[in-house]
Amino acid sequence: MADLTTDFLGITSPNPFWLASAPPTDKEYNVRRAFEAGWGGVVWKTLGAEGPPVVNVNGPRYGVIHGADRRVLGINNIELITDRPLEVNLEEMARVKADYPDRALIASIMVPCEEAAWKAILPRVMETGADGIELNFGCPHGMAERGMGSAVGQVPEYIEMVTRWCKTYYDRPVIVKLTPNITDIRKPALAAKNGGADAVSLINTINSITSVNLDAMAPEPMIDGKGTHGGYCGPAVKPIAMNMVAEIARDPETRGLPISGIGGITTWRDAAEFMALGAGNVQVCTAAMTYGFKIVEEMKRGLSAWMDEKGYRSTHDFIGRAVPNVTDWQYLNLNYVTKAQIDQEACIKCGRCYAACEDTSHQAIAMSADRTFTVKDDECVACNLCVDVCPVENCITMQEMAAGAVDPRTGKVVQDQYANWTSHPNNPAAVQAAE
Ligand SMILES: Cc1cc2nc3c(=O)[nH]c(=O)nc-3n(C[C@H](O)[C@H](O)[C@H](O)COP(=O)(O)O)c2cc1C
Ligand code: SF4
Ligand code: SF4
Repeated sequence: MADLTTDFLGITSPNPFWLASAPPTDKEYNVRRAFEAGWGGVVWKTLGAEGPPVVNVNGPRYGVIHGADRRVLGINNIELITDRPLEVNLEEMARVKADYPDRALIASIMVPCEEAAWKAILPRVMETGADGIELNFGCPHGMAERGMGSAVGQVPEYIEMVTRWCKTYYDRPVIVKLTPNITDIRKPALAAKNGGADAVSLINTINSITSVNLDAMAPEPMIDGKGTHGGYCGPAVKPIAMNMVAEIARDPETRGLPISGIGGITTWRDAAEFMALGAGNVQVCTAAMTYGFKIVEEMKRGLSAWMDEKGYRSTHDFIGRAVPNVTDWQYLNLNYVTKAQIDQEACIKCGRCYAACEDTSHQAIAMSADRTFTVKDDECVACNLCVDVCPVENCITMQEMAAGAVDPRTGKVVQDQYANWTSHPNNPAAVQAAE
């Protein structure tokens, strides 16, 4: 059986599945049960500065997007950092770490953007025996209005400055948790690296309004008739998070900076995808909130079985393996030609492919009087839309045309050599370069 043991920044954990800083890691009771359930590590719910803790709303704090089967696709929340005293959290962390030395325990921290505030809290966190810290520069609501969270994460200079303070006053790994509420994720990642960060973790939640109550005419979750934007997470954000992870993993300036991948991870496959894109481990929040701690069992079993099947003995064998295959559009092979093909045995004659292609793509699907659907190769541009809308898995597949065959749409012979936009005759820049 494949070994799931993971070394992230010198912190070993029995598997790469950590719980992200959020309600599942809010207190000793939760974290002990999470460890008993098999989680490899936790990032404790974000700690605030000494003094009176923050206060949460007393009404609903979640909005949700459901799929047609009421499966949770995305959650948005207006919760703040921990609303329990710092002292209590630190005592609990020390006890839990002492009892579970083989699990990773990271302290998430958010204190004012002042050196004294960081200098004051870091030695206290150190005393707990926590394996490292994660700087919460991502929370987009409530705390940002107080000059913390994403208000820091949106300013690379602040990220670099605070990271440097942490590296000065704390001598264990420092992970910088990034906000996705920014145009180019590479900038804050580079700032973290320049400040001396050992790793970045991403993503925190995305600014969002999930629904509007049309009777009350207010966004939900609604607190006494008013709503506010919250942080969006869950399966819906996974594509956004993976792109950001890949951007950091392949950018020459940030390549090699360790990444903890977060955002919508629900299955072992989600985790493997993040890791293939360069994440050294993963963190999970919404899936645990939706299905409970035991979901980690399926994640561990599934990842291990897949690794066995592929012959990967350790997670390090496949971390980053997909990164070289992430490229810019201009380098995609324009000589690669495919056509849609419909499996008539599998087709249930619903007509969705026809409607999609006829109305919004390239009028490349024919419908006969008896509702037999066939692809017109001389019209098909291979956009894949019919595959995506077909309700029957693998009923429509994209078939590659062999080199030497004539594409009936263009009348051109399919070439076997790679050619991209940079040298294409229609590219004015390519023409200029040739001249
Ligand atoms: C209710 C709730 C509270 C959260 N609180 C924190 C927090 O205190 N600190 C933090 O860094 N992230 C916090 N997060 C963000 C998560 O750690 C995580 O980055 C985000 O939910 C994306 O992961 P997911 O899609 O697996 O949920 C919170 C998320 C939720 C849903
Ligand atoms: S791949 Fe696109 S163009 Fe071709 S049949 Fe399907 S929807 Fe139409
Ligand atoms: S969408 Fe799929 S199942 Fe429906 S008609 Fe087209 S090929 Fe058949």
